[in-house]
Amino acid sequence: MSDRSHNAPALPPEIARRRTFAIISHPDAGKTTLTEKFLLFGGAIQMAGQVRAKGEARRTRSDFMQMEKDRGISVSASAMSFDFHAESGEALRFNLVDTPGHSDFSEDTYRTLTAVDAAVMVIDGAKGVESQTRKLFEVCRLRDLPILTFCNKMDRESRDTFDIIDEIQENLAIDVTPASWPIGMGRDFLGCYDILNDRLELMDRADRNRVAETVRLKGLDDPRMADHIPPAQLATLREEVEMARELLPAFDAQALLDGTMTPIWFGSAINSFGVKELMDGIGRYGPPPQPTAAEPRQIAPDESRVSGFVFKVQANMDPRHRDRVAFLRLASGHFTRGMKLTHVRSKKPMAVTNPVLFLASDRELAEEAWAGDIIGIPNHGQLRIGDTLTEGEALRVTGIPSFAPELLQNCRAGDPMKAKHLDKALMQFAEEGAAKVFKPTLGAGFIVGVVGALQFEVLASRIELEYGLPVRFEPSQFTSARWVHGPRDKVEAFAEANKGHMALDNDDDLVFLTRLQWDIDRVGRDWPDIALSSTKEMM
Ligand code: G4P
Repeated sequence: MSDRSHNAPALPPEIARRRTFAIISHPDAGKTTLTEKFLLFGGAIQMAGQVRAKGEARRTRSDFMQMEKDRGISVSASAMSFDFHAESGEALRFNLVDTPGHSDFSEDTYRTLTAVDAAVMVIDGAKGVESQTRKLFEVCRLRDLPILTFCNKMDRESRDTFDIIDEIQENLAIDVTPASWPIGMGRDFLGCYDILNDRLELMDRADRNRVAETVRLKGLDDPRMADHIPPAQLATLREEVEMARELLPAFDAQALLDGTMTPIWFGSAINSFGVKELMDGIGRYGPPPQPTAAEPRQIAPDESRVSGFVFKVQANMDPRHRDRVAFLRLASGHFTRGMKLTHVRSKKPMAVTNPVLFLASDRELAEEAWAGDIIGIPNHGQLRIGDTLTEGEALRVTGIPSFAPELLQNCRAGDPMKAKHLDKALMQFAEEGAAKVFKPTLGAGFIVGVVGALQFEVLASRIELEYGLPVRFEPSQFTSARWVHGPRDKVEAFAEANKGHMALDNDDDLVFLTRLQWDIDRVGRDWPDIALSSTKEMM
């Protein structure tokens, strides 16, 4: 992992103005509402409510799939780009990468988070740190991602501010520093005192889509405070902010970049309150595009040559065309439409003639893009997760792992005449990274592996919807899979001796299917030259 620093040599302005981030939260904390307000303040939509059509809860325009409509969950990650004019006068470009909200999609989520430079953690002021927030936070921590926190729903009865901060510090083991301090809560919530800028922000309850009124004051002791805040609340505010300054760590920009401190803003997304301050915070303190880990060398964002990596593949976004879109995070350079890039894995040139930029309102042809941006490249299956594209150099972006699935099931076509189509459908989902598909060396059929149980349902529904093929998932005798490594002759001997346990994954890599941890321990004892691993680098 590279060191993030604001003191790094200056980036070209087009790259320096970019912020690529994801929102992590527990379902219902307000991610969709916050996304909508980001777009509203970014000028990408005219009116809140456009993102989520009335009556159809939990759907933003970033959701594509039928399944999402039916189930009301966000299955796929996608990206949205929009501009934001920060208070500092800087014209920022935000790339918001949507993380799948359901706890079952951790692998997809992990890979999504390899494409961002920071995360916004949204928590519900009444509920604090919830299970899904914690899981996603742990994934961010693996990469030391900088995290900015938004405590939402302060217009409702919330927990005590110190309690919320304590809980985050203790539960997530990260320093928390208040960027703002709430004045009252629930019905008495008036707004926040902006600690970083020493001024008062008042909430406008009358118009949910308006930016809050800012009252410029000279600190907490400014007598004009009393014009806006009733005496009892003002006394509490002064006391609490004083205590907070004494007890809680002061804001430290470097600690934020290192991922050891998170600033917290309080607000109410639905009332558009606190959102602009958070966006200014992302602009001011959030990192610009960072270097990307690769072999044989790291890629710096300001290199003049273009490079990027695929972190997600989504198939059948339009069921009428069997298109696939590979989501490419640009690691370096200035990309222009029509550019010929090298697909490093196959060493083949690839003309990128119709890249797509996911603007909030629509998909649009991307005429150009810079390091930090995410573009979609329609293709017919050449691009896979983990692939690197460059202007010729044989670089391979690292750190995009594939995890051993935790659940295995046999998959059969409902109609045996269509077994061939099943092969094709499963391969496609494997390439998308939606499932692992194993072909046992003995016997027929496929074993499908996923990380979360709901994925079987998602797969069955997509295979039926996209391929018109009913399928059945049935319990398998195996419970997990491990990739096999070792000297070639030893691996061959091992495969021969364990025929009933062997299978090939969709890249034709050898895996050992197990029933019990005991199997794995036994291999450790009996086959000292064989290594079994539960992750594999995608390439
Ligand atoms: P999610 O994407 O994280 O799952 O959350 P979402 O934005 O959908 O918000 C979940 C619920 O919380 C929604 O209510 C939303 O209106 C509400 N909400 C979001 N922000 C705030 C806030 O600042 N204050 C209050 N009081 N509520 C907030 P819902 O009733 O489930 O849906 P809907 O009928 O409003 O669409």
